[in-house]
Amino acid sequence: MISVIIPTYNEAAVIQEALRRAAAALRSVSEEFEIVVVDDSSADGTAERVEALAGEVPVRILRRPGRLGLATAVLDGGVTARGDVWAVMDADLQHPPEVLAPLAKAIREGADLAIGSRYVAGGGTSDWTWVRRMISRTATHMAATVLPLKLASVGDPMSGLFMIRKSALENAQLNPLGYKILLEIIAKAHYKNLVEVPYVFQEREKGASKLGARQYLEYLQHLLRLAVGTGQLWSWIRYGAVALAGAMIDIALFVFLVKKAGWHPTPALPLAIEVALLNNFFWSEAFTFRSARTPASNPGVWRRLARYESICIPGAGLNCVVTGLWMALDGGVANAAAAGVVAGGALNLLINIPAIWRTWADRK
Ligand code: GDD
Ligand code: MN
Repeated sequence: MISVIIPTYNEAAVIQEALRRAAAALRSVSEEFEIVVVDDSSADGTAERVEALAGEVPVRILRRPGRLGLATAVLDGGVTARGDVWAVMDADLQHPPEVLAPLAKAIREGADLAIGSRYVAGGGTSDWTWVRRMISRTATHMAATVLPLKLASVGDPMSGLFMIRKSALENAQLNPLGYKILLEIIAKAHYKNLVEVPYVFQEREKGASKLGARQYLEYLQHLLRLAVGTGQLWSWIRYGAVALAGAMIDIALFVFLVKKAGWHPTPALPLAIEVALLNNFFWSEAFTFRSARTPASNPGVWRRLARYESICIPGAGLNCVVTGLWMALDGGVANAAAAGVVAGGALNLLINIPAIWRTWADRK
């Protein structure tokens, strides 16, 4: 049986349509289901509208004493859920309830986790402004930076629309904060088979979004908590130590070649950067990502090296440009090399980290 969990906070205008359409979708694929609405004491009569529909749709309501957050609402709903599969969706129809049908089909066909996804072929975000698109992409990228290996094969880890087998949640210590319950699940649940089902995120026609400054802040706190709780923070520290060693090798070798060995900077700089990259690669293999590597990782050390080098090209290029400019302006060899390293490292940190780490991730 599928237990559909719908968190609500002031959704009286839409909740009945959401319940009817969700029920119709699951009946159309002959699924046995129940719906649990978790309402945080909405003042607009959401709970009463749910109860009014109880004869027509198999729905129950769980009332919480005040606004306690979306993610914990889902978990509290799950405690009372009777199904062996949980479905989670919003009440406001931005998640078209009809997507429950293909999600259920994916689970039937063996998926442990089926995600309604905006970022796979066929999915999308209707008429979002570029600002909203940027915010969404940035938040997704930040999550990928914090959990690069876990999120390597997930297009839309920020989705609020998904289904999961309850067995995948056994022994998972879920401790979410704010909105992103799926991120918590991806980080901690034990699932093998993940499937993404495309859907188009709809515009909100009625009611107002509950997403505000507080939720953005909670998101950052949640990422930090995940980084600590999953042990990723330690991987980060290992990565940072290796990167620091690489930076020192780059600077020292460049200074040695130019000042002591009398080389021209043009061949000396790429050589110094390449030696630093090889150092970083070696330590990543032997130390930082040793335990993350699986048989399904990029096969063969040479393949991984080629991938690593190609990802590092933009950072290395920026390093060369900044070092060259600095030398032309200032003349100091060591300072120039340091400035180049900082610029290249910052570029990697901003845009390349997930890709670099995924050199050692499962390739699915
Ligand atoms: N019980 C409860 N408590 N429900 C809440 C709370 C809360 O504190 N905050 C929000 N909700 C309910 C809303 O009533 C709605 O049904 C759902 O959670 C989503 O809230 P919105 O405010 O509409 O969120 P959104 O549209 O910005 O974002 C949603 O979609 C994104 C894309 O899938 C969320 O589901 C995001 O997590 C998701 O990334
Ligand atoms: Mn919404």
